Amino acid sequence: MGRRNEPPRLPEGSFAAWSRDRLALARRGADECGDVWQLEPGVYIAATAGPCEAVLRRAQEFRQASPPLFPPLKRSSGAPTPEERAHAHAARMRGLRPQAVAARIGEIAPGAARFPDQWPTGQDVEVLPLVRNALAEIGVHYVFSEDAPTLLPFASQLFLAREVLERPSRWVWPRWVPTPARRFRTRQQVAFTNALRPIVRRRRSSGRLGDDMLGQMLQPSSRYGLLTEEAILDTLPGITVATFETPSRAASWILLHLAWYPQAAGRVAAEAALLPTDPAATTSTHLDSLQYTQALVREVLRLHPPSWLLVRRATRQTQLADYSIDAGSTVLVCPYTAHRDAREHSEPDRFRPERWLDDSGSPAKPGVFLSFGTGPHGCEGAALAMAMLTLLTAQTARCYHLSEPPGPQPGYQVTTFGGLATVGLRLRATLRS
Ligand code: HEM
Repeated sequence: MGRRNEPPRLPEGSFAAWSRDRLALARRGADECGDVWQLEPGVYIAATAGPCEAVLRRAQEFRQASPPLFPPLKRSSGAPTPEERAHAHAARMRGLRPQAVAARIGEIAPGAARFPDQWPTGQDVEVLPLVRNALAEIGVHYVFSEDAPTLLPFASQLFLAREVLERPSRWVWPRWVPTPARRFRTRQQVAFTNALRPIVRRRRSSGRLGDDMLGQMLQPSSRYGLLTEEAILDTLPGITVATFETPSRAASWILLHLAWYPQAAGRVAAEAALLPTDPAATTSTHLDSLQYTQALVREVLRLHPPSWLLVRRATRQTQLADYSIDAGSTVLVCPYTAHRDAREHSEPDRFRPERWLDDSGSPAKPGVFLSFGTGPHGCEGAALAMAMLTLLTAQTARCYHLSEPPGPQPGYQVTTFGGLATVGLRLRATLRS
């Protein structure tokens, strides 16, 4: 391969500079090198919309490289076949597709309406744990409805196990080494599975499968038949945590923007005033009417995509933009820089929810938006996430003005490992009169 086909490299773009400030280096790479650049030999960054979308869509050539949240506990039958994976995916999507979410807005809304009551007013409160608890209640209820109270404590432990595993460590252990963090994850996964198994069996033997996401997964599919108990128990730990882990990172960014932009928060509050007094009566029509709130959520996700860097591995020698990529190379897809490209979004660093609305207040032609990924591995829970976040944002702004603690320095850290998050963010809520 000729050297001129290699993506450009920053002079000092080494892993050392990368570990000091990954966001800043990602931006410099995009500004100075363009569409695709090289962090070090065999590690490339797709920095703008075209190459990002190409990598995510060409899933055979660029394979997902991160391990599953919760690998199957043990399998007598070996790793799931492509057919089994497609079956489990179809079963999950029955419960997560936009129409399924739209039909259950009245079950999501009460949890969002309770959120402001859980927020102690008049004091600085750490936001991330607060939103995580609220979203875990909503998400776990969405998956298991009346069985949610049994499973919620186990779901919180699953989250904790993930958090421990994601702490940056000096050593990268091979996947088969049973480190204390991995053993803790396995114990929590076993505990969750043991609590879930009798629920699955009870629902199947009684024939009352339920209208929730678990119920949808228990329905036979016309194409694949019944999903096995083993496949259900393997897939649900990851899905359960996914309902609140990334959404809570997104929610804390959104609440920070409500504090930074009181006028925008006022506009959200005005929309929220039109929601029904009984949250259970909320429908998808009400949700659709929260146009500005949805635009605000989308704008925060554009500026701060929680999954800001997606990892892929090239399965064969291939082309990306004008460059040759060797088999085995790592390709990092960067929604963060793709979203801050002025060719896609005017004044890309400005917070401007209106960019997602046209003058009549309806959705405008979108620029690139990769916060939920795209292609075969795009986010399965995007509709659920948007519904939860829109309602939570509306209910918070309806009740409160939010503000940051006074002081020259932000009291939180922006972390980039395991998702873009505001760790330690504290906000104060005061009643909106
Ligand atoms: C703001 C909230 C969320 C964001 C920003 C987000 C983002 C993403 C992104 C970027 C991907 C693609 C990862 C990749 O291509 O490597 C993804 C995948 C996924 N998401 Fe989400 N997500 C969110 C909420 C949710 C929720 C609520 C669920 C609920 C179940 C969920 C379930 C999943 C699943 C199962 C996948 C894996 C799809 C696959 O590998 O085929 N996500 N998410």
